[in-house]
Amino acid sequence: MKGPQSFDVVVVGAGAAGMMCAIEAGKRGRRVLVLDHAKAPGEKIRISGGGRCNFTNIHAGPKNFVSANPRFAISALSRYRPADFTALVDRYGIAWHEKTLGQLFCDGSSRQIIDMLLTEMKAAGVELRLQAPVDRLEREGEGFRLSAGGAEIVCSSLVIATGGKSIPKMGATGFGYQVAERFGLKVTETRPGLVPLTFEAGLLSRLAPLAGVAVDVRVSCGKTRFEGAMLFTHRGLSGPAILQISSYWREGQAITVDMAPGADVFEALRQARAERGRQSVAGVLAQHLPRRLAELICETHGATANLADAGDKRLRAVAEAVNAWTVKPVGSEGYRTAEVTLGGVDTGELDSRTMAARRIPGLYFIGEVVDVTGWLGGYNFQWAWASGWCAGQAV
Ligand code: FDA
Repeated sequence: MKGPQSFDVVVVGAGAAGMMCAIEAGKRGRRVLVLDHAKAPGEKIRISGGGRCNFTNIHAGPKNFVSANPRFAISALSRYRPADFTALVDRYGIAWHEKTLGQLFCDGSSRQIIDMLLTEMKAAGVELRLQAPVDRLEREGEGFRLSAGGAEIVCSSLVIATGGKSIPKMGATGFGYQVAERFGLKVTETRPGLVPLTFEAGLLSRLAPLAGVAVDVRVSCGKTRFEGAMLFTHRGLSGPAILQISSYWREGQAITVDMAPGADVFEALRQARAERGRQSVAGVLAQHLPRRLAELICETHGATANLADAGDKRLRAVAEAVNAWTVKPVGSEGYRTAEVTLGGVDTGELDSRTMAARRIPGLYFIGEVVDVTGWLGGYNFQWAWASGWCAGQAV
């Protein structure tokens, strides 16, 4: 009878982290198999960055990540840096540009990054099996035995790189968390991150005329704040600033939005009243905000007359609605649209240098499945490359 196929390393998940780990392990002469249940590798890379893959952020550091242990990511991020990945991209002649705030994007297509990783995997002798879900997984001696895609496989190192729960339509599963729990490892609470926030029906209907309006804001939740664009949607709020703050927001909390950062709107209104009192309040606000938004704020606060007819109290209320709009979202759009999953395999279970599970020799977790979640802007891929690279040196 034919025995099981034997590999040094099996990586489950052909995403960003899994492919990077496989390449590095293969380069070290390890016999590596990558398994994925999807039809194609790197699907999230393909759709990322609007099809241009924001593949890293040159400023990536531990402060750009959310984790129960903010120090956990320090080691991996310093061992494999944005410049290391950019050097790889350059070796393949893939043109890129910095869009804003250190975010690096392909000039062409995210497909180039996937092709680069596949070429690297091939050169490192890595075997890739697609449409090969893992049906069974167990400890065998010092290693692991699994059945996947109809094959019996044994390996000494098993790397879980199955990502988070975001966008189930694209094949995201909770597989990695289940494996961790199966082996008795702690998993911190998971929730959608980098996700649009939603409002209750009453507020939504009042804000309905604003759907599609975008404005540059400074948004805060507790002590955390972000600047960037905010978009009113049919469900609530979206746009980069909102996605960023969503990773820090919890049910029941309010967020405060300054829709004219840097402008003291109360002072601006008072000055305009002193100079030309016959202007409308909305007319002055529209110098700072999109017209539709300015008008709705004025209607909401009964400031539809001329400036000359508006007292300080009314102007202050209008200004506060612009500079410090405090609103309580009721929820988020959930995993359906979230870019990432917050929480995951508890970093206390892992060695920060190798991503190895301390209590289960040979088992590794890398990428988004770990409780390390980046901000919007290329940080999540940098974590995937860095954690994958570290495990690749150790498996
Ligand atoms: P990833 O999700 O990439 O890969 C996991 C792999 O495991 C998949 O191939 C999946 O099919 C496979 N898998 C899952 N369950 C399995 C199972 N049970 N058995 C076998 N295989 C299984 N980040 C960034 O830095 N810049 C950006 O521009 C973007 N843009 C972006 C856009 C959108 C729409 C989304 C949803 C996300 C982003 N991100 C991003 C986030 C980024 O895509 C994400 O953090 C990384 O892809 C995580 O890499 P991983 O390798 O950990 O998981």
